[in-house]
Amino acid sequence: MRLLLLLVLLVEFALSYKILVFSPATSKSHLISNGRLADELAQAGHDVTVLELDFLGISETTNSVKKAKKRIIGGFKQATQFKNVLLGFSETVMEEPSFTDEVKGWWAYQNVYNDLCAEFLENDKVFYELKKEHFDGFFAEQINLCGFGYAHALAIPRRFLISSCPFAAPVYDFTGLPMPTSTVPFAADMSADPSYYERARNFLAAVVTKFEFMILNSRLHEHFLQKWGADFPSPASIASNVDVIFIATDEVIDISTTTLQNIVHVGGLGVDDDVTEMDKVFSDEMEKGKLGVIYFSLGTIANTTKIDKKVMISVLNIAKKFPDYHFIIRADKYDISTREHAKGVSNSFVSDWLPQTSMLHHSRLKLFITHSGYNSIVEAARAGIPLINIPFMFDQNLNSRAVEKKGWGIRRHKNHLLTQPEAIEEAINEIIHNKKYSDKAIRIRDLIKSKPLSASQLLVKTTEWAIRNNGLDELKFENRGHTTWTYYNLDVILPILWIVFSFILPTIFGWYKFSCFGHIEEKTKTKSKKE
Ligand SMILES: *[C@@H]1O[C@H](CO)[C@@H](O)[C@H](O)[C@H]1NC(C)=O
Repeated sequence: MRLLLLLVLLVEFALSYKILVFSPATSKSHLISNGRLADELAQAGHDVTVLELDFLGISETTNSVKKAKKRIIGGFKQATQFKNVLLGFSETVMEEPSFTDEVKGWWAYQNVYNDLCAEFLENDKVFYELKKEHFDGFFAEQINLCGFGYAHALAIPRRFLISSCPFAAPVYDFTGLPMPTSTVPFAADMSADPSYYERARNFLAAVVTKFEFMILNSRLHEHFLQKWGADFPSPASIASNVDVIFIATDEVIDISTTTLQNIVHVGGLGVDDDVTEMDKVFSDEMEKGKLGVIYFSLGTIANTTKIDKKVMISVLNIAKKFPDYHFIIRADKYDISTREHAKGVSNSFVSDWLPQTSMLHHSRLKLFITHSGYNSIVEAARAGIPLINIPFMFDQNLNSRAVEKKGWGIRRHKNHLLTQPEAIEEAINEIIHNKKYSDKAIRIRDLIKSKPLSASQLLVKTTEWAIRNNGLDELKFENRGHTTWTYYNLDVILPILWIVFSFILPTIFGWYKFSCFGHIEEKTKTKSKKE
């Protein structure tokens, strides 16, 4: 018996890996999603440490982990600069940024992030403490590649990328998989059935962004070269050699496109499903409205205290047009204007915090009007609730287009809130009267819920599989070392086109003109003229 116990313990021991999750505090929602991932692995018996680089001073107050260990690194000198960049984003949230603005935005964000990374690399104490731990596996997001360089320096053998967005552009760039810019609106917006102009714009914007990131990543590489010498590989090459790329959305709701053998979708990880309990304050509100409840939330980046007051007034005016529905509206804690106006709208309830997952699972909820953050989209999909998407920034537009493509929601422009509220009213009418949207949302939910393996199983089993077998080299993309030039055989195609256009075509044309066929045509022409 004792021997058996020992054996069981040994097996447990052998299967328990030490894992480091690199989680810079770039926003609360990123801390939470990294924490959920860490908890899933800890739950499965692994020894998981979450390393939170507290760029924003939010780690202490964010309950990001329940099971995993959490280590907070604070005291970043350049934290204020980082905060200012983010503040800049949220201040211009209602504006329509030009492509140059977006390029500049990325530039500012990544440069200060790289500087914060350099600051972190100087922290030798933390580095040697972590090195002593001899981690087996490492997870980091795609937003910035600092973590991948760090994992290499720590000599952590197995590395995993977790993409906190749908299949984002950087994922394509790192893995060598060319972006399908004709179908996925990565860098510029494209409608569901894109025009030539939209495709051209998206393609050009993607090329510019790719070069921008190449420069930014080589700047990041400089920091590692300075710290660890001239042989240090580039963080981009380390990222392109990860064993597995986990994507935090569900393939059922993502835009279907080219993929790789080592890409695994784990959308909905740790999302509390089928939770319906909520405080009485909220459950009472859910009972109001003759025909049901409509939920409106713009997330946290579009801070309703700061954006044009007219936006939320417009939302309340829209609510007035649908007296049979009760509107539950999220507004920032300090947003007095919205609360004042809501007093005149009997079918509205305003709060700065709402039990979102429970509300989404409530049978009386008919529609969710959202800023299209991927967490909200995944939660709504798993609850089978149709959406009106009003994207503001980052990946939100891409998310909104994915929902539109899969047919369980309608996309509206943020300017409609100010200038054309009737466009939003029309979308609400369409969703509450046309069963097609809710039917589709329910189908999406059922597809996700009945998948052969859950997100949690996929994450845990794939991670264990990779670590146990010392990596998954066999699955890595053959082309990850190629350039776009060789991937598309441009070095073959362009010379051929050159030969065709400069020699073959002129020769054929010349030959035709002076051959008898040419004469026959000439003759026919003159003949018909005479007739
Ligand atoms: C929204 O803006 C107000 C005013 O600047 C600020 O006090 C509040 O903390 C902000 N809310 C969030 C969630 O950032």
